[in-house]
Amino acid sequence: MTKVGVAEKKHLFINGGNVKAADYAPLYSPYSGEKIAEIAMADEQLTKAAIQSAFDAFQVFSKMPAFERAAILEKVVVLLKERADQAAELIARESAKPISFAKGEVSRTIETYKFAAEEAKRIHGETIPFDAAPGGVGRTGYTLRKPIGVIGAITPFNFPMNLVAHKVGPAIAAGNTLVLKPASQTPLSALYIAELFKEAGLPDGVLNVVTGPGSVVGEAIIEDDRVQMITFTGSPEVGITIRDKAGLKKTTLELGSNAAVILDKDTNVEQVIDRCITGAFSNQGQVCISLQRIYAHEDVYDQFVQKFVEAARQLKIGDPLDSNTYISSLISMKETERALGWIEEAKQNGALIVAGGKLMDGILEPTVIVNVDPLQKVSCQEVFAPVVIINKVRSIEEAIAYVNESRYGLQAGVYTKNIDHALLASDTLEVGAVMINDIPTFRVDHMPYGGVKESGTGREGLKYAIEEMTELKLVVWNRGV
Ligand code: SIN
Repeated sequence: MTKVGVAEKKHLFINGGNVKAADYAPLYSPYSGEKIAEIAMADEQLTKAAIQSAFDAFQVFSKMPAFERAAILEKVVVLLKERADQAAELIARESAKPISFAKGEVSRTIETYKFAAEEAKRIHGETIPFDAAPGGVGRTGYTLRKPIGVIGAITPFNFPMNLVAHKVGPAIAAGNTLVLKPASQTPLSALYIAELFKEAGLPDGVLNVVTGPGSVVGEAIIEDDRVQMITFTGSPEVGITIRDKAGLKKTTLELGSNAAVILDKDTNVEQVIDRCITGAFSNQGQVCISLQRIYAHEDVYDQFVQKFVEAARQLKIGDPLDSNTYISSLISMKETERALGWIEEAKQNGALIVAGGKLMDGILEPTVIVNVDPLQKVSCQEVFAPVVIINKVRSIEEAIAYVNESRYGLQAGVYTKNIDHALLASDTLEVGAVMINDIPTFRVDHMPYGGVKESGTGREGLKYAIEEMTELKLVVWNRGV
């Protein structure tokens, strides 16, 4: 079984076994700086070996019956439930996600694989009414959903277990094989899951995990003709590069956002504070749908700012392994310094820092900024840090216009008791999903999830990811012969 907290050598996982690389790089805890592992750095040749293994495995695995694929996924659910605490500790160590949130991520990962197991048994097409066209009379036809082949999955650091599950789960449910490149800072969760799949009886070669630099491993996966699809979660910059290089490969891109919530004039401030704190500061704001912008109606603005700032100042900062910690280190000091730079820039341009804005023991405090010009980076770019802005608006229309004034469009929230305002918001907000009376950070794992504009293309959520990961095939019977 995988050991946690030991600086052991972690090899590549190719064709069901551990494969050594020529080079290894140290992996450090983002919180304590201690070395937690030595990670294999694959070169192009090893990445291609992993792709070949996935390619060969597809010839057999694509024919495995649905009930057997479902049984493997169900077994992973059982194994992960048994080892949930160990898995959570691994996430907390490699990503500095506070342990209470890491436990939440493991629970969600279990659900994701459970949904994948269920969906594996209901992948189907539909019958087509051919006689709706004069030329179709005398024909019967239906569609099938076929697995597409080798999928290249590139996953981020912020949910190192559940966002791997959102790619591995549906791919296996549909009969595809994978080459997975986890984020460089969080390879341990992905390797851990690969071992669980082996134990659960997944045939060799179906899931390969290749660690190493994006410029080598990622490039080799994206450019290889044996790979039929790229599914990526990460920054818009990388996502757009992937799309440009992918050629005719299918792509699902889950990119970032500067997600917003609107607080209408009738908002009960007391009721929404806790949810807004969760939205802004869970996982140190390193969530694609983190609550980054709050547009509060002038009738509730002062009361909301006061109560929200009070609550933000209460959040406990510290060691991710301490169960009371709410906020820990960002993924790297470089990211912390970038966020601090953006906060300073907003301040220089007239914004007011009403909470946080500085480091405590190297950790960025939960930061609340008011009166922010929309062109400041903390407003118009993805901050990916515990930083939230609050601006005053005079109407729902003005708030909607601010939310839409964005390169991104993943999810948005609106708190209102006015049904016309709720309908207007759901109709006109330019996003993949609108949450009425909730924060944009709401997600359960079977719902369709994805964005518009620079937030990406395609949808995740098991049923929807399976649609992306299968090819529609039509069969037509000519009854006249
Ligand atoms: C993400 O950051 O893209 C995923 C958010 C979530 O799954 O809650």
